[in-house]
Amino acid sequence: MALSPFLHPFAKPAADQFITIVRGEGAAVFDDTGKRYVDGLASLWYCNVGHGRAEIADAVDAQLRVLENYNTFDIFTNGPAEEAAALISALSPVPDGRVFFTCSGSEAVDTALKLARMTFTRRGEPERHVFVGRTLGYHGVNYGGVSVQGLPLNQEGWGPLLGPVAQIAHDDLSAAERLFAERGHEIAAVIAEPVIGAGGVYPASVEYLRGLRKLCDEAGSLLIFDEVITGFGRLGSWFAAEYYGVVPDMITFAKAVTSGYQPLGGVIVGPRVRDELEADPDFILRHGYTYSGHPASCVAAVANIAILRDEHLLERVPHIAERLGGGLRQLAKEGLVAEVRGEGAIWALQMHPSVSALDVRQGLLDRGVIARPIGAAALAFCPPLVIDDADLDLCLEATGDALRALHP
Ligand SMILES: Cc1ncc(COP(=O)(O)O)c(C=O)c1O
Repeated sequence: MALSPFLHPFAKPAADQFITIVRGEGAAVFDDTGKRYVDGLASLWYCNVGHGRAEIADAVDAQLRVLENYNTFDIFTNGPAEEAAALISALSPVPDGRVFFTCSGSEAVDTALKLARMTFTRRGEPERHVFVGRTLGYHGVNYGGVSVQGLPLNQEGWGPLLGPVAQIAHDDLSAAERLFAERGHEIAAVIAEPVIGAGGVYPASVEYLRGLRKLCDEAGSLLIFDEVITGFGRLGSWFAAEYYGVVPDMITFAKAVTSGYQPLGGVIVGPRVRDELEADPDFILRHGYTYSGHPASCVAAVANIAILRDEHLLERVPHIAERLGGGLRQLAKEGLVAEVRGEGAIWALQMHPSVSALDVRQGLLDRGVIARPIGAAALAFCPPLVIDDADLDLCLEATGDALRALHP
């Protein structure tokens, strides 16, 4: 059979079997046979307000009819970009943050890395160009993000990556301390997901993140939080930085800023970066994307944030944590899985070595639930924040049944 002309992302190019999703409503999606699935991963960790939100579709439609886009390079701007930037800056714990818009999380990460190096170039410290990444970290697929991330399979075969990058164990502060003792003066920035997502859902401890902040402060390095998954409510706060009480110098965001209704990402840029970029009135920031500040994406962000706020969806997170996290822990108590990890509304099950997460995923699909395998070893849940108890329970029942079927 001829392969589809659509070459799929993160898929086997030789694959010819796909599930066609045609419709979404709340925490569920439907395929082209009419089968309903609970969307246990909010599509790809992003659909916080749930599917089928007419308010966002209407806002995008209205914007496209007035002005589909006009670039924001140099002297141009538009109302929705200004409004979204002001809103996002006000929600973030970064004081006086300015927002640089991108179209994706990968672009946000590469933007933050470039801004970190530019900060030190402007400050007259060009030797400070080392980036520090963490094992299991995921920072998108552009060359900067691939270079600083900690998932070796994603780095294979793409040729020379960006350097210099130092990698530290994601949960070992003393490793970070040793690195800073040796090379602190060369380190431009540390990039860290407060909760490692795509690498298998590993929440950092408060002490770890505070420790990174302290090391960066002492060495004069920048701290970047990659909040592409955690931003806009996943932990019950607008940003994980607030949840952990640690203020980074830059925050990357994407995904739930629009809940996926339009592609949008960005970087919240704090004072230590701003000061260097703004010091010389003649300096030109030669970085930007054709669609930076795209008004249809920015109105989607404004409408999405209004839903998150007006429907108090962040306040649902502790309940999701208790019901989903608690239910998954029960499966561990039964001995069906090796470990449960998570925080807020993002969770993962670590499989016993004899069980493949791919088989569990298939068992879940058969039972009308979508969860995401992380390799063969783990299975992640990150549902829309609108998910109700019946659907949370369906996720748990289906997982229990799928696991029991594989453990005769
Ligand atoms: C922490 C993190 N950073 C960056 C990205 C890349 O975002 P995108 O796929 O929008 O380029 C992701 C995507 O999952 C992510 O989880």
